[in-house]
Amino acid sequence: MSRVPDPMVPSPSFPVLDPQAVHVWFCELSRHVECQTAFVAELSDEERARAARFAFERDRQRFILSHGLLRRVLSRYMPITAQAIQFGTGEHGKPTLSGPAGPSDDLRFSLSHSAEYALIAVARGREVGVDVEVRKANLDCLKLAERFFAPAEAQAMATLHGDAQQRLFYRLWTAKEAYLKGRGVGLSFGLERFEIMFEGESSAARVRLRGSGTVDQTWKIRSLPLPDHLAGAVAVAGGDGDVHRYDAAAFFLA
Ligand SMILES: CC(C)(COP(=O)(O)OP(=O)(O)OC[C@H]1O[C@@H](n2cnc3c(N)ncnc32)[C@H](O)[C@@H]1OP(=O)(O)O)[C@@H](O)C(=O)NCCC(=O)NCCS
Repeated sequence: MSRVPDPMVPSPSFPVLDPQAVHVWFCELSRHVECQTAFVAELSDEERARAARFAFERDRQRFILSHGLLRRVLSRYMPITAQAIQFGTGEHGKPTLSGPAGPSDDLRFSLSHSAEYALIAVARGREVGVDVEVRKANLDCLKLAERFFAPAEAQAMATLHGDAQQRLFYRLWTAKEAYLKGRGVGLSFGLERFEIMFEGESSAARVRLRGSGTVDQTWKIRSLPLPDHLAGAVAVAGGDGDVHRYDAAAFFLA
Protein backbone atom coordinates (compact mmCIF):
# COMPACT_ATOMS: atom_id res chain seq x y z
CA MET A 1 0.00 0.00 0.00
CA SER A 2 1.03 3.59 -0.48
CA ARG A 3 3.08 5.68 1.94
CA VAL A 4 1.96 8.89 0.27
CA PRO A 5 1.01 11.15 3.15
CA ASP A 6 -1.52 13.47 1.58
CA PRO A 7 -5.15 12.56 0.98
CA MET A 8 -6.02 10.38 -1.96
CA VAL A 9 -9.37 9.27 -3.23
CA PRO A 10 -10.17 5.89 -1.65
CA SER A 11 -11.42 3.67 -4.44
CA PRO A 12 -12.80 0.26 -3.65
CA SER A 13 -13.86 -0.12 -7.29
CA PHE A 14 -12.14 1.12 -10.42
CA PRO A 15 -13.03 4.77 -11.03
CA VAL A 16 -15.23 5.64 -13.99
CA LEU A 17 -13.63 8.15 -16.35
CA ASP A 18 -16.36 10.51 -17.48
CA PRO A 19 -15.69 13.17 -20.14
CA GLN A 20 -15.24 15.99 -17.57
CA ALA A 21 -12.69 14.03 -15.54
CA VAL A 22 -8.94 13.57 -15.67
CA HIS A 23 -7.45 10.65 -13.75
CA VAL A 24 -3.87 11.04 -12.51
CA TRP A 25 -2.13 7.90 -11.29
CA PHE A 26 0.82 8.24 -8.91
CA CYS A 27 3.42 5.54 -8.33
CA GLU A 28 6.63 5.13 -6.34
CA LEU A 29 8.25 2.67 -8.73
CA SER A 30 11.06 1.50 -6.44
CA ARG A 31 8.50 -0.10 -4.12
CA HIS A 32 7.30 -2.43 -6.88
CA VAL A 33 10.46 -3.95 -8.30
CA GLU A 34 8.86 -7.39 -8.00
CA CYS A 35 6.49 -6.41 -10.86
CA GLN A 36 9.38 -6.15 -13.31
CA THR A 37 9.22 -9.72 -14.68
CA ALA A 38 5.48 -9.55 -15.30
CA PHE A 39 5.75 -6.09 -16.88
CA VAL A 40 8.61 -7.03 -19.24
CA ALA A 41 6.42 -9.76 -20.68
CA GLU A 42 3.76 -7.18 -21.56
CA LEU A 43 6.06 -4.68 -23.30
CA SER A 44 6.43 -4.49 -27.08
CA ASP A 45 9.66 -5.57 -28.78
CA GLU A 46 10.46 -1.88 -29.31
CA GLU A 47 10.00 -1.10 -25.61
CA ARG A 48 12.14 -4.10 -24.63
CA ALA A 49 14.84 -2.92 -27.04
CA ARG A 50 14.72 0.57 -25.46
CA ALA A 51 14.98 -0.98 -22.01
CA ALA A 52 18.01 -3.00 -23.09
CA ARG A 53 19.84 0.16 -24.18
CA PHE A 54 20.02 1.71 -20.70
CA ALA A 55 23.57 1.63 -19.31
CA PHE A 56 22.45 1.36 -15.68
CA GLU A 57 20.21 -1.34 -14.26
CA ARG A 58 18.37 1.20 -12.09
CA ASP A 59 17.33 3.21 -15.18
CA ARG A 60 16.30 0.04 -17.04
CA GLN A 61 14.17 -1.00 -14.08
CA ARG A 62 12.46 2.41 -13.90
CA PHE A 63 11.73 2.34 -17.62
CA ILE A 64 10.22 -1.16 -17.45
CA LEU A 65 8.15 -0.33 -14.39
CA SER A 66 6.84 2.98 -15.71
CA HIS A 67 6.00 1.67 -19.18
CA GLY A 68 4.59 -1.59 -17.80
CA LEU A 69 2.43 0.42 -15.43
CA LEU A 70 1.31 2.70 -18.30
CA ARG A 71 0.08 -0.37 -20.20
CA ARG A 72 -1.72 -1.76 -17.15
CA VAL A 73 -3.38 1.58 -16.42
CA LEU A 74 -4.50 2.17 -20.01
CA SER A 75 -5.83 -1.37 -20.38
CA ARG A 76 -8.29 -0.71 -17.56
CA TYR A 77 -9.89 1.96 -19.73
CA MET A 78 -9.80 -0.12 -22.92
CA PRO A 79 -11.37 -3.36 -24.08
CA ILE A 80 -7.95 -4.96 -24.70
CA THR A 81 -5.12 -6.40 -22.60
CA ALA A 82 -2.08 -4.42 -21.51
CA GLN A 83 0.08 -6.44 -23.90
CA ALA A 84 -2.19 -5.80 -26.91
CA ILE A 85 -1.97 -2.01 -26.65
CA GLN A 86 -0.19 -0.38 -29.59
CA PHE A 87 1.49 3.00 -29.37
CA GLY A 88 2.30 5.50 -32.08
CA THR A 89 3.80 9.00 -32.00
CA GLY A 90 2.38 12.38 -32.87
CA GLU A 91 4.05 14.88 -35.15
CA HIS A 92 6.43 16.17 -32.46
CA GLY A 93 6.97 12.90 -30.64
CA LYS A 94 4.00 12.77 -28.26
CA PRO A 95 3.11 9.12 -27.63
CA THR A 96 -0.40 8.21 -28.83
CA LEU A 97 -2.60 5.12 -28.91
CA SER A 98 -2.76 3.44 -32.28
CA GLY A 99 -4.36 0.29 -33.63
CA PRO A 100 -7.97 -0.80 -33.47
CA ALA A 101 -8.82 0.69 -30.11
CA GLY A 102 -12.59 0.64 -30.74
CA PRO A 103 -14.61 2.51 -28.09
CA SER A 104 -11.40 3.72 -26.46
CA ASP A 105 -10.46 5.73 -29.55
CA ASP A 106 -11.02 8.95 -27.62
CA LEU A 107 -8.66 7.95 -24.79
CA ARG A 108 -5.72 10.33 -24.23
CA PHE A 109 -2.79 9.94 -21.87
CA SER A 110 0.50 11.39 -20.71
CA LEU A 111 3.38 9.79 -18.80
CA SER A 112 6.05 11.45 -16.66
CA HIS A 113 8.79 10.02 -14.49
CA SER A 114 11.44 11.54 -12.24
CA ALA A 115 13.84 9.26 -10.38
CA GLU A 116 11.64 6.52 -8.87
CA TYR A 117 8.34 8.36 -9.26
CA ALA A 118 5.84 8.18 -12.09
CA LEU A 119 2.63 10.00 -12.95
CA ILE A 120 0.17 8.94 -15.63
CA ALA A 121 -2.72 11.18 -16.68
CA VAL A 122 -5.71 9.75 -18.56
CA ALA A 123 -8.70 11.56 -20.09
CA ARG A 124 -11.41 10.99 -22.69
CA GLY A 125 -11.85 13.25 -25.69
CA ARG A 126 -9.36 15.86 -24.49
CA GLU A 127 -5.58 16.09 -24.57
CA VAL A 128 -3.61 15.95 -21.32
CA GLY A 129 -0.01 16.53 -20.32
CA VAL A 130 1.58 15.65 -16.99
CA ASP A 131 4.92 16.32 -15.32
CA VAL A 132 6.56 15.23 -12.06
CA GLU A 133 9.93 16.39 -10.72
CA VAL A 134 11.91 15.49 -7.62
CA ARG A 135 12.81 18.83 -6.02
CA LYS A 136 16.57 19.26 -5.85
CA ALA A 137 17.73 21.33 -2.87
CA ASN A 138 20.93 22.76 -4.34
CA LEU A 139 19.65 24.03 -7.65
CA ASP A 140 20.23 27.70 -8.52
CA CYS A 141 16.56 28.12 -9.36
CA LEU A 142 16.64 31.86 -10.01
CA LYS A 143 19.53 31.56 -12.44
CA LEU A 144 17.70 28.80 -14.35
CA ALA A 145 14.46 30.81 -14.41
CA GLU A 146 16.27 33.93 -15.66
CA ARG A 147 17.82 31.87 -18.43
CA PHE A 148 14.88 29.70 -19.51
CA PHE A 149 11.57 31.09 -18.21
CA ALA A 150 9.50 34.09 -19.32
CA PRO A 151 10.73 37.38 -17.72
CA ALA A 152 7.55 37.78 -15.60
CA GLU A 153 8.09 34.32 -14.09
CA ALA A 154 11.74 35.03 -13.23
CA GLN A 155 10.69 38.40 -11.75
CA ALA A 156 8.07 36.71 -9.55
CA MET A 157 10.72 34.29 -8.34
CA ALA A 158 13.17 37.13 -7.59
CA THR A 159 10.72 38.54 -5.02
CA LEU A 160 11.04 35.30 -3.01
CA HIS A 161 13.92 33.60 -1.20
CA GLY A 162 15.00 30.15 -0.07
CA ASP A 163 12.36 27.45 0.08
CA ALA A 164 9.55 29.71 -1.18
CA GLN A 165 11.58 30.61 -4.27
CA GLN A 166 12.43 26.97 -4.93
CA ARG A 167 8.80 25.91 -4.54
CA LEU A 168 7.64 28.53 -7.05
CA PHE A 169 10.35 27.40 -9.46
CA TYR A 170 9.14 23.80 -9.39
CA ARG A 171 5.51 24.88 -9.51
CA LEU A 172 6.24 26.86 -12.69
CA TRP A 173 8.59 24.27 -14.16
CA THR A 174 6.17 21.36 -13.85
CA ALA A 175 3.27 23.52 -15.08
CA LYS A 176 5.31 24.56 -18.12
CA GLU A 177 6.36 21.02 -18.94
CA ALA A 178 2.82 19.70 -18.46
CA TYR A 179 1.56 22.33 -20.91
CA LEU A 180 4.21 21.48 -23.51
CA LYS A 181 3.58 17.77 -23.09
CA GLY A 182 -0.15 18.28 -23.39
CA ARG A 183 0.33 20.14 -26.65
CA GLY A 184 2.84 17.45 -27.65
CA VAL A 185 5.44 19.97 -28.76
CA GLY A 186 8.19 19.20 -26.23
CA LEU A 187 10.83 21.50 -24.83
CA SER A 188 11.99 22.63 -28.26
CA PHE A 189 8.90 24.93 -28.34
CA GLY A 190 10.72 27.25 -25.89
CA LEU A 191 9.95 27.66 -22.19
CA GLU A 192 10.29 31.45 -22.49
CA ARG A 193 7.54 31.76 -25.11
CA PHE A 194 4.68 31.51 -22.61
CA GLU A 195 3.87 32.47 -19.02
CA ILE A 196 2.15 30.40 -16.38
CA MET A 197 -0.32 32.56 -14.44
CA PHE A 198 -1.51 30.98 -11.20
CA GLU A 199 -4.82 32.25 -9.89
CA GLY A 200 -3.54 33.62 -6.55
CA GLU A 201 -2.61 30.80 -4.18
CA SER A 202 -4.89 28.40 -6.05
CA SER A 203 -3.49 25.29 -7.73
CA ALA A 204 -5.12 26.38 -11.00
CA ALA A 205 -3.26 28.32 -13.69
CA ARG A 206 -3.72 29.70 -17.18
CA VAL A 207 -1.14 30.15 -19.92
CA ARG A 208 -0.35 33.49 -21.60
CA LEU A 209 1.38 33.32 -24.96
CA ARG A 210 4.03 36.03 -25.02
CA GLY A 211 4.05 36.66 -28.76
CA SER A 212 0.39 37.65 -29.03
CA GLY A 213 -0.12 38.48 -25.34
CA THR A 214 -3.30 36.39 -25.40
CA VAL A 215 -4.36 33.77 -22.89
CA ASP A 216 -4.45 30.28 -24.35
CA GLN A 217 -8.11 29.49 -23.75
CA THR A 218 -7.68 25.83 -24.62
CA TRP A 219 -5.54 24.78 -21.70
CA LYS A 220 -5.95 24.80 -17.94
CA ILE A 221 -3.10 23.80 -15.64
CA ARG A 222 -3.32 22.34 -12.15
CA SER A 223 -0.55 21.79 -9.62
CA LEU A 224 -0.93 18.36 -8.07
CA PRO A 225 -0.87 17.45 -4.37
CA LEU A 226 2.17 15.19 -4.01
CA PRO A 227 4.65 14.27 -1.24
CA ASP A 228 6.66 17.32 -0.19
CA HIS A 229 9.90 16.41 -2.00
CA LEU A 230 8.04 16.25 -5.33
CA ALA A 231 6.33 18.75 -7.60
CA GLY A 232 3.83 17.91 -10.30
CA ALA A 233 1.26 19.41 -12.62
CA VAL A 234 -1.30 18.34 -15.17
CA ALA A 235 -2.42 20.33 -18.22
CA VAL A 236 -5.94 19.69 -19.48
CA ALA A 237 -7.37 20.82 -22.82
CA GLY A 238 -10.89 22.10 -23.28
CA GLY A 239 -12.46 23.24 -20.05
CA ASP A 240 -11.61 22.89 -16.41
CA GLY A 241 -11.22 19.14 -16.18
CA ASP A 242 -12.11 17.57 -12.88
CA VAL A 243 -8.74 16.20 -11.70
CA HIS A 244 -8.75 13.05 -9.52
CA ARG A 245 -5.53 11.56 -8.17
CA TYR A 246 -5.18 7.86 -7.42
CA ASP A 247 -2.52 5.59 -6.00
CA ALA A 248 -1.49 3.10 -8.67
CA ALA A 249 -0.29 0.61 -6.08
CA ALA A 250 -3.85 0.07 -4.87
CA PHE A 251 -5.00 -1.11 -8.31
CA PHE A 252 -2.15 -2.35 -10.44
CA LEU A 253 0.83 -3.52 -8.42
CA ALA A 254 1.70 -6.37 -6.12
C1 LIG B 1 8.83 15.42 -23.62
C2 LIG B 1 9.86 16.12 -22.73
C3 LIG B 1 9.25 17.48 -22.34
C4 LIG B 1 10.09 15.20 -21.57
O1 LIG B 1 10.42 15.84 -20.38
P1 LIG B 1 11.14 15.14 -19.12
O2 LIG B 1 10.80 15.94 -17.91
O3 LIG B 1 12.56 14.93 -19.45
O4 LIG B 1 10.54 13.69 -18.97
P2 LIG B 1 9.14 13.17 -18.47
O5 LIG B 1 9.42 11.95 -17.67
O6 LIG B 1 8.28 14.20 -17.84
O7 LIG B 1 8.42 12.75 -19.82
C5 LIG B 1 8.91 11.70 -20.59
C6 LIG B 1 7.74 11.07 -21.29
O8 LIG B 1 7.02 12.05 -22.03
C7 LIG B 1 6.46 11.43 -23.18
N1 LIG B 1 6.87 12.25 -24.32
C8 LIG B 1 7.95 12.16 -25.13
N2 LIG B 1 7.90 13.12 -26.08
C9 LIG B 1 6.77 13.82 -25.86
C10 LIG B 1 6.16 14.93 -26.51
N3 LIG B 1 6.69 15.52 -27.59
N4 LIG B 1 4.99 15.39 -26.03
C11 LIG B 1 4.42 14.83 -24.96
N5 LIG B 1 4.94 13.77 -24.29
C12 LIG B 1 6.10 13.28 -24.75
C13 LIG B 1 6.98 10.00 -23.21
O9 LIG B 1 5.97 9.17 -22.65
C14 LIG B 1 8.18 10.05 -22.30
O10 LIG B 1 8.43 8.84 -21.64
P3 LIG B 1 9.63 7.90 -22.12
O11 LIG B 1 10.81 8.79 -22.38
O12 LIG B 1 9.85 6.97 -20.98
O13 LIG B 1 9.13 7.23 -23.34
C15 LIG B 1 11.19 16.39 -23.42
O14 LIG B 1 11.96 15.24 -23.42
C16 LIG B 1 11.02 16.86 -24.83
O15 LIG B 1 10.89 18.04 -25.07
N6 LIG B 1 10.99 15.97 -25.80
C17 LIG B 1 10.59 16.33 -27.17
C18 LIG B 1 11.69 16.12 -28.12
C19 LIG B 1 12.58 17.29 -28.13
O16 LIG B 1 12.18 18.42 -28.20
N7 LIG B 1 13.86 16.97 -28.11
C20 LIG B 1 14.88 17.94 -28.11
C21 LIG B 1 15.78 17.62 -29.26
S1 LIG B 1 17.11 18.72 -29.28
